[in-house]
Amino acid sequence: MRILAIETSCDETAVAVLEAEGTPDTASFKVRGNALYSQAGKHAAFGGVYPDLAKREHAANLVPLLHAALTESRLRVDEPTNLSSDKQQHLRELLVREEALVNALIPYLRNHGKPSVDAIAVTQGPGLEPALWVGVNFARALANVWDLPIIPVNHLEGHIIASAVASHADQPSRFTVDQMQFPLLGLVLSGGHTEFIYAPSWGDYSVVGTTRDDSIGEAFDKVARLLGIPYPGGPGISALAHTYRTARKAKVSAPLAKRPRFLPRPMEHSPDLDFSFSGLKTAVLYHVRELGELSDEDKGKIAEEFEEAVTDVVLAKTKRALETYPAATFVIGGGVSANSYLRARISGFFAHHALDTSLRLPAIGLSTDNAVMIGMAGYFMHLRGANTLSAHEPLRADGTLSMHTPRETDEAQP
Ligand code: KG4
Ligand code: ZN
Repeated sequence: MRILAIETSCDETAVAVLEAEGTPDTASFKVRGNALYSQAGKHAAFGGVYPDLAKREHAANLVPLLHAALTESRLRVDEPTNLSSDKQQHLRELLVREEALVNALIPYLRNHGKPSVDAIAVTQGPGLEPALWVGVNFARALANVWDLPIIPVNHLEGHIIASAVASHADQPSRFTVDQMQFPLLGLVLSGGHTEFIYAPSWGDYSVVGTTRDDSIGEAFDKVARLLGIPYPGGPGISALAHTYRTARKAKVSAPLAKRPRFLPRPMEHSPDLDFSFSGLKTAVLYHVRELGELSDEDKGKIAEEFEEAVTDVVLAKTKRALETYPAATFVIGGGVSANSYLRARISGFFAHHALDTSLRLPAIGLSTDNAVMIGMAGYFMHLRGANTLSAHEPLRADGTLSMHTPRETDEAQP
């Protein structure tokens, strides 16, 4: 099955084409085309994602990215195509709030024929609603003109599946789920979410831990701002911490290398699986205020200690989560799972404790938002017969879409 996938939940605009085959146990994917534009640089001036700008950028970039993904996958059909005035009117109604998008899409569709794909997968939520709507309406427009089914995808399931699949060094565009054992415990660490998700099987999800305030990615971004590092702050903090850590270790002989801890590890020892990062951010704020003017040394020291504190908490919660939910497979996904220090600590923990749980981490390009993971999740949804819509059925973007699988017993609860 060939899937065209679209992702617009935050500040990455992405379109991918995947070839998918196999059962949930044997699924394999070949990425035929993967076009992504990160708007992060444009949001940097605002210190975070500015929803109206995200929406405008998605609208401006989707058609060029569609073109790029279809070109890369060799599925672009250069053929003048008749688009009746009724069809054009329908597209204008569907994309009434995305005028720039429809103005680019109509000429595109008149110059290109239907590509050989079987379905369109699109992120329905969670995320920034104005941003999600652009992708959803774009998917509906394409589905309408090309008469294709739409698979609405939960972005968080995308992150989980992107972490669960294994990449192949000799074939970097190929991913397989080989020998994935259930139950699965997933930890999504992103700009919007910090959630433990327990799954006895694909499609059966319970959120068993979450953040009580800021997400882990937000904490990285806010602390970065305090250190004068532009948005998105995660990669910047990570780089600064790495440089500082390396220089510090080179200077001090091993027994003296113990650093003072000066930031809290919020909820590290709480008996639940929840997180809280706002106190940690505030502690950095007070520390920065106390220091006044920050030297490069100060910034490096704070970056390292912050990264250390966050990782301590993630590791402590991971241990607790695995005690509470013994899982055969543990996966970490989302933008913060690109953090190399966190990856190394988690991998070290699994390597040193002979656990009955195997660890899977996403390929670096699949940690942060992308459309490949949406296509993969779309395929799993297709396999379980869930939710495929015709182009004529309504589809709403849902900024707060939950990962929790609805159960009959849910309704009985007060
Ligand atoms: O999953 P993602 O791309 O978008 C959401 O779904 O939210 O995650 C974005 C978040 C941002 O907060 C960014 O600062 C963080 O992931 N991030 C990192 C790193 N790369 C991205 N945080 C720490 N270390 C990194 N290397
Ligand atoms: Zn994400």
